[in-house]
Amino acid sequence: MRKIAVLTSGGDAPGLNACIRAVVRAGHYYNLQVVGVKRGFKGLIEKEFIPLKPRDVSQIINRGGTFLLSAREDRFRQYEYRKKAVENLRKEGIDALFVIGGNGSFQGANLLVKEFDFPVIGIPKTIDNDTYGTEYTIGFDTAVNNAVDAIDKIRDTSVSHERVFVVEVMGRKSGFIALAAGIASGADVTLIPEYPFPMHAIIDSILQARKRGKRFSIVVVAEGVASGKEIAEILSQKLKPYDFGGVRYSVLGYIQRGGTPTVYDRIIASRFGVFAVEEYINGKKNIMIALENGKVVSKPLEISFGRVKKPDLSDFELNNILTL
Ligand code: F6P
Repeated sequence: MRKIAVLTSGGDAPGLNACIRAVVRAGHYYNLQVVGVKRGFKGLIEKEFIPLKPRDVSQIINRGGTFLLSAREDRFRQYEYRKKAVENLRKEGIDALFVIGGNGSFQGANLLVKEFDFPVIGIPKTIDNDTYGTEYTIGFDTAVNNAVDAIDKIRDTSVSHERVFVVEVMGRKSGFIALAAGIASGADVTLIPEYPFPMHAIIDSILQARKRGKRFSIVVVAEGVASGKEIAEILSQKLKPYDFGGVRYSVLGYIQRGGTPTVYDRIIASRFGVFAVEEYINGKKNIMIALENGKVVSKPLEISFGRVKKPDLSDFELNNILTL
């Protein structure tokens, strides 16, 4: 009987548990033994393996975070620790490693392929949705829903006090969350790293809205552009001469990354997990699972390395049209 191992690595994302569950149950469905690795690559080095049976993953589809725990493991950058990891996997009789992770985790996993010819299958997750090669990464939908839920609440104060509100959302290098949250919450200005927007244009846009009779404004900024605090300070300075109820900012932070996964995330996580196991059963290895034109497919693991996935420019423009 072949044996596979599954781990979650990097920042947690809602839907990880649903994906682990899918890998475990599909594995058993196809007569594989399944082992869970705790704490990502750290657990590979420290041999934290636990057998996983279908019942071990019951009642987790609706839970955020990852019950296998996650970590960012710097030691994995060193050859000697990767060697140790593979030795541990082989000693345990494991034939392939399923890594539910983002770009960084895929690059680490790929070294196991290159250096030790150890089979790896990547399943993409990150709330940032910025993994090249796939239209979607597990966790994004929940993160955007969390952000929109918060912005809807902030809007109440913004309207009541006729204030400008700057809301900082996550997205270390990318603006997918900001753009989607901006469109869905009806933000007046959305700032993302991929399509820079000069400060004077932001001010102009807020003042124009005032002229059209709008008494409040919401600016959504991706953390990769600047901090909400910085933007709010500049706006506060520049808007002083005008009759505004003031400028405030809120940093949404980690609330975006937690909580019950949305239906979409549960379904995608389930589809990705089952498909990953089926691809392995069909002899594929060293691949990543991806969503392409709405279909679940697999691609070479290396496809995402060194390439930048950008949001649609048309979505950015859409936002500008809708603020009229
Ligand atoms: O990559 C997902 C993400 O949540 C980013 O949006 C954020 O900048 C980063 O992780 C924070 O990571 P950490 O868990 O290391 O604070």
